[in-house]
Amino acid sequence: MLHFIDGLANQAHPRDELIEGLLKPAAQISPKFFYDDLGSRLFDAITELPEYYPTRTEAAIYRQEARSMAQMLPRQPIVLDLGAGNCSKGEALFEWLKPAAYVAVDISLGHLKPNLTALHSRHPQLPKLGWGLDFSKPFNLDAGVQDWLTRHQLEGHPWMVFYPGSSIGNFSPTDALNLLERIRHLCTSNSHQGPIHSQKGGGLLIGVDNVKPLAVLESAYNDALGVTAAFNRNLLLHVNRLLGSDFDLDGWAHFAKFDEAHARIEMHLESLVPQTVRWSGGSRHFVKHERIHTENSYKWTPEAFVDLLQSTGFSAPMRWTDPQHWFNVYWAPC
Ligand code: AVI
Repeated sequence: MLHFIDGLANQAHPRDELIEGLLKPAAQISPKFFYDDLGSRLFDAITELPEYYPTRTEAAIYRQEARSMAQMLPRQPIVLDLGAGNCSKGEALFEWLKPAAYVAVDISLGHLKPNLTALHSRHPQLPKLGWGLDFSKPFNLDAGVQDWLTRHQLEGHPWMVFYPGSSIGNFSPTDALNLLERIRHLCTSNSHQGPIHSQKGGGLLIGVDNVKPLAVLESAYNDALGVTAAFNRNLLLHVNRLLGSDFDLDGWAHFAKFDEAHARIEMHLESLVPQTVRWSGGSRHFVKHERIHTENSYKWTPEAFVDLLQSTGFSAPMRWTDPQHWFNVYWAPC
């Protein structure tokens, strides 16, 4: 009932991608490299901070709207939880969603394994698959996943892709469009004749952060305890391990600011001194105050996000929000 697939082993080593980003005139490192084991745990801590409103605001929407969501969503779906992490957001849906199976996808298999194993002890009858994958790159349901579906007689059950937490905001609008296209393709891939083929089809349940007052946004990424700063700086320790580089944490400070023109929070690491960072075969000099861009977190108005969904071929979505309209959850049938 519990199975793991390491899809990361088949994907390219991130070395070239990291070097290319570090050598750009404006250096950058993809936010996916935040999520080593420690980074994943630091992110879990962020979600409990008083300043970081998205997680609890979204969770309250699911609690409040479960009944109305249950009417729209397919019965007995295979829930594919993208960026499942500690699996708590997925598990919170089980009671009313009654999934046929749960597929937890995450770039950190090390973080996913103990969390999915713990979930398994609470829901031993539910078939579960843990899939280590970098889904920022094109991906397919590989043979291992297809085998697992067949073994558990899941053909014909609709896919419900669950992408909470406004993680779509960490993609540029163009990359978000490409990811949504891949998700839609996946949602339509298991719809051949099966035991429950006559019921509602699959789709995407996605949580998206809304544009809101600047002070609320900026304090969510500059918490008083410094957990977001630790999360940002831990990226350099992860890169040191992946690349064999010699980033010295003492030389780097967290920086986060809302860019109104792009409707996004930008996170950077700022060099506190002039310094050269070396790795085998290369190096990069940073002047004092030079920054490495580590994350964008786009905030989407409902109008712009509905346009994005529909331009990737999803049908008109349903939307639920909180009383302050800070966060939106969409159900987009594929
Ligand atoms: C995972 N992602 C949606 C978070 C966000 O808000 O963009 C990551 C994060 N970065 C800093 N705090 C949280």
